[in-house]
Amino acid sequence: MSAPSTAIESNLVENRVFPPSEALVKAARISGMAGYEALRAEADRDFEGFWARLARENLQWTKPFTRTLDESNAPFYQWFADGELNASANCLDRHMGTAVENKTAIIFEADDGAVTKVTYKELLARVSQFANALKAHGVEKGDRVLIYMPMGVEGVVAMQACARIGATHSVVFGGFSAKALNERIIDAGAVAVITANYQVRGGKELPLKAIVDEGLAMGGCECVRSIFVYQRTATACAMVPGRDKTWDEALAGQSTECPPTPVGAEHPLFILYTSGSTGKPKGVQHSTGGYLLWAKLTMDWSFDLKPEDVFWCTADIGWVTGHSYVTYGPLAAGATEIIFEGIPTYPNAGRFWQMIERHKCTVFYTAPTAIRSLIKAADSDAAVHPKNWDLSSLRILGSVGEPINPEAWMWYYRHVGGERCPVIDTWWQTETGGHIMNPLPGATPLVPGSCTLPLPGIYTAIVDETGQEMPNGSGGMLVIKRPWPSMIRTIWNDPERFKKSYFPDELKGYYLAGDGAVRSVDRGYFRVTGRIDDVLNVSGHRMGTMEIESALVAKSDLVAEAAVVGRPDDLTGEAICAFVVLKRPRPVGDEAKQIAKELRDWVAKEIGPIAKPKDIRFGDNLPKTRSGKIMRRLLRSLAKGESITQDTSTLENPAILDQLAQNN
Ligand code: WTA
Repeated sequence: MSAPSTAIESNLVENRVFPPSEALVKAARISGMAGYEALRAEADRDFEGFWARLARENLQWTKPFTRTLDESNAPFYQWFADGELNASANCLDRHMGTAVENKTAIIFEADDGAVTKVTYKELLARVSQFANALKAHGVEKGDRVLIYMPMGVEGVVAMQACARIGATHSVVFGGFSAKALNERIIDAGAVAVITANYQVRGGKELPLKAIVDEGLAMGGCECVRSIFVYQRTATACAMVPGRDKTWDEALAGQSTECPPTPVGAEHPLFILYTSGSTGKPKGVQHSTGGYLLWAKLTMDWSFDLKPEDVFWCTADIGWVTGHSYVTYGPLAAGATEIIFEGIPTYPNAGRFWQMIERHKCTVFYTAPTAIRSLIKAADSDAAVHPKNWDLSSLRILGSVGEPINPEAWMWYYRHVGGERCPVIDTWWQTETGGHIMNPLPGATPLVPGSCTLPLPGIYTAIVDETGQEMPNGSGGMLVIKRPWPSMIRTIWNDPERFKKSYFPDELKGYYLAGDGAVRSVDRGYFRVTGRIDDVLNVSGHRMGTMEIESALVAKSDLVAEAAVVGRPDDLTGEAICAFVVLKRPRPVGDEAKQIAKELRDWVAKEIGPIAKPKDIRFGDNLPKTRSGKIMRRLLRSLAKGESITQDTSTLENPAILDQLAQNN
């Protein structure tokens, strides 16, 4: 890992502060900074007692736990380990016989605008019926099930049904390729795949089942016995008799009652693959008890959830945000939530605002990338500016996935929230399971671009490479000093990599997040500045530079060598920039354009369209030290279009820099 740059210490002055309104403070679950401090003090005083109380109050246990935290095998921490529960029962059954039973659980809006509503009672029946179908096909507690589904009720049903029978799901985002699916199926050892014939986005039908078939055909997937295919559209897809079942065939004759299978609190609820700085994506393994506790509690705390709220998290279930704030958190909290199938720019860039008005959304949670692209759209076409819609139902706004720049923050606050709604900038990761740092709506004064302070019970800090804490105002590495219930348990199949990636020896047992951050001098507020490892954040999607490099080099008839770096991008946060040496003379002009296109398509096939490099530059060589190490910091400067001011005296071939500075 490279040392965090000191550049993050500059540009720190942000004088705007927005304290919560009195009305918000008065009605909030955590009221005022005094309320926040009281919870923090409780955790300081009695760390385990704090978490035990919350776990007892917020979850229903079929067997109560007697031990809160087991640190005997750190960093493989265990929480509530001798307790038993079921995640699906905690999202659905627990509401039966209460006022939530007949409440709308999901308002689904399809790509074409058609709306369906499902109550908690109906959702329980649908989940139970599909859980029975899984069982009838031999899926058992402890089995892994891969889910490759569009956004919709059925995706949530598939995940909840797995949880109901104790099967561990692994959802793969619908934008990943056949190859990516193949690798994940093999690594997880999935016994079944749940998919759809097609997904519908932006008025287009895109295949899913065909990609599953292609992934299986790549070999090594003998573990898969059954494929369930939800028919989202009328278009036919190839089906293998015996192995493949349509959703309706699978459900036929199955009861709508299915008793939830109790599992131990540490039972893996899901595996979610995410990019790291080295090697293949890692299967982040989450527990049942600790994970669910935090998904539920952060709904209550971060969004100050009220029974009448209409919550909308725009994330896809293929990402962790969709797991915690679409599938589990809102349902465990008994909320009404909106699920949207489509994209924010179809039929036009007013879609989000129109949907907020239509469904009277009160809590809206989205990503800075979406906000930035909608700002751009509204700037060029007044007809899609949020002012055209009645957004007065909104009371809280959220942001997730990447740093939100103060300009985007202010626009969101003003034009979407009407200067009435706090912007809750939530910093967290796939590995943390749920929110780690964010303001609380009725407590924390907001500062644009800052995720402010850790949630009660969470101990974040900024340290140098030896684990020494940095003074406020100085940048460093973001760490979490104590374990927390929803933390990653291990990397599936690779406990050593888990230890090495997140708990390096130098850091005194602290969890290393991989982000750089700085605390403000006045308030001690955290500002996360981005990754300090070889992970890029493109439109809020995590991509490993090594992963893209390996994909490029895998085109072995053409590519000799490749180096991938990120560069800042106004819209997507970061953009992928690839420097490539071919096995043939360096192409120029049209030939360069044509080969660049070929390579982009290749990366889309190897990983998925989200990994396509924006820039591809060709060189006769890459800038290397005399010992043959690629000098990435020079490539980062070239990608940004900066002139090279760094010392290049250790460079083997300085002349190469001029060549690589030219864009195709
Ligand atoms: C980045 C998404 C700044 C960060 C929940 C982190 C953020 C990575 C924020 C995790 C934020 C996420 N401010 N940066 N509010 N939220 N990040 O695993 O670099 O897809 O390490 O989880 O996104 O991405 P992941």
